[in-house]
Order: sequence, then structure tokens, then C-alpha cells
Amino acid sequence: MRLCSVLLVCLSAAVSSAFVISQQHMWTKLILTHHWPSTFCTMEKCHSNISYWTLHGLWPDKGVDCNSSWHFNSSEIEDLLPDMKKSWPDLLHPSSTGFWKYEWHKHGTCAAKADSLDSQHKYFSKALELYHKLDLNSVLEKFHITPSEKYYTFSQIEGVIENFYGIKPKIQCVHPSKNAGVQILGQIEICFNPDFTLLDCEKQLTNDNKAGWGNAMDVDNRGSGFSVCDHDMEVYYPPLS
Ligand SMILES: *[C@@H]1O[C@H](CO)[C@@H](O)[C@H](O)[C@H]1NC(C)=O
Ligand SMILES: *[C@@H]1O[C@H](CO)[C@@H](O)[C@H](O)[C@H]1NC(C)=O
Ligand SMILES: *[C@@H]1O[C@H](CO)[C@@H](O)[C@H](O)[C@H]1NC(C)=O
Repeated sequence: MRLCSVLLVCLSAAVSSAFVISQQHMWTKLILTHHWPSTFCTMEKCHSNISYWTLHGLWPDKGVDCNSSWHFNSSEIEDLLPDMKKSWPDLLHPSSTGFWKYEWHKHGTCAAKADSLDSQHKYFSKALELYHKLDLNSVLEKFHITPSEKYYTFSQIEGVIENFYGIKPKIQCVHPSKNAGVQILGQIEICFNPDFTLLDCEKQLTNDNKAGWGNAMDVDNRGSGFSVCDHDMEVYYPPLS
């Protein structure tokens, strides 16, 4: 009896420490990032005729490039390709799969530590599913936030998203110059728990999580010119030029 209970205690201690170790490197948040093609193309000198928010990525809050031997293979997401081309286009090279390959290696291989995302098909189809579920384009339009030559206040835009989804997004802008007096709306991040329920995004990156995710991590020049919008500056939401 006594031996048995000692064994049980040891066993449960061993199991829980193994659990702690395996959970240590596990992400705890997913960030679904949308970008506005006109703003992206202002920075990157591309041409886009897309006037809806497209996917940039689905990023776990911990880890990048988690498995370099897990190669991107577009055959595994063949059935998703029509939607990928529409919802997650490579704005720089529209006919290439390079953007998806990049996002898979950098973020997907880390997201794949969770059973729910442990294949390319699961990862990309979940990103598309969340994107369609959120339907950010319709929500903004419904509440009269549309691309326009007139400016919005930051809180008008943030308010619509907060009120509709009931969580805080992270909204990023391009700041053309220090004294321009206006910032250009560029990127909207919506965050999820590991069970894909909505979650507040931090308003400000701290030094801690800067190392793990966010635009600081996405420094391949895709979106590297974005920073958190200034709450007191007007926002330009550019229509197609
Ligand atoms: C955008 O441009 C592409 C290539 O030039 C064209 O195939 C597509 O139909 C255009 N889309 C819209 C919405 O105009
Ligand atoms: C990395 O990916 C390869 C190919 O899918 C897989 O065989 C291997 O188990 C993965 N390694 C880790 C540490 O997950
Ligand atoms: C890519 O995936 C397809 C479908 O799963 C598979 O048949 C093929 O062998 C894979 N190609 C490579 C290079 O792994």
C-alpha cells in the first residue's frame, strides 16, 4: 500500500514535469494578420488591383522556423489553391507560391506543434477558415469604414472592430514621415486562443514578445514598414489608385 502510493506520487511527478517541459515551447496564441494591398504596395512598389483585406499570415506567438526539413508542398493543399490565390495572394509575385512557402517555413512549422495544425493542409485551411469566419471586409464595410479620400480617427476604426468582435485587435499603420500628420492603415491583427476562440491582442509589443512574433519578426521586407498606429493621428484608408 505504502509502496504503491510512493510509486504513484513519483509517477505523477514524472508525468507532470514531462508535461511542463513539452508545454514550455508551445505557443499560446495565434495571430491572424490581414493586410491592405494598396498600403502594402505603396511600400513595396508593387501594383495591386485588390480592394479587400487579404491574409498575410497565421502566426503563433512563440517560435519561428521550427522545422527546416518540413518542406512546403503545394500538392498537399491543391484543393485550397483557388481560395489561397484569392484570399492569401502574393502581392509581389502573384503567380508564385513563394509567399506561402515562406509563411509555412517561418510560422506554419511552429503552429504545427499543436495537433490541430500538424499538417500543411490543416494549417492553411484553418487560416482560411478563420479569415472567412471573421469576414473583416464585410464588418468594416457594414459599419461604414470604407477606403476613402477622407480621413478617419483611429478610434473610429478600432471601435468598430472592438465592438463587433468583442476583443482588442492590433492595428498597424505606415507613417510616411514624422510630421505628415496622417498615417496610412496597413495591417490588422486578430488574435486567437489555441482552441480558436477570440482573444485580445496586446496593444503594444513588449520587449519580451518582440522576440517571438509581430512585425519585428517579419523582417523579410514584407510588412517591415508597419508599426502600431498612433492613437492621436488621423488615418488614411487608401482606395485603389
Ligand atoms: C486584377 O488584375 C488581374 C491581372 O491583371 C486580373 O486578372 C484581374 O481580373 C483583376 N481583378 C480585378 C478585380 O480587376
Ligand atoms: C520535422 O519535419 C519532418 C518532415 O515532416 C518530420 O519527419 C520530423 O518529425 C519533424 N521534426 C520535428 C522535430 O517535429
Ligand atoms: C507532395 O505531396 C504529394 C501529395 O501528398 C506527394 O504525393 C508528393 O510526393 C509530395 N512531394 C514531395 C517532394 O514531397
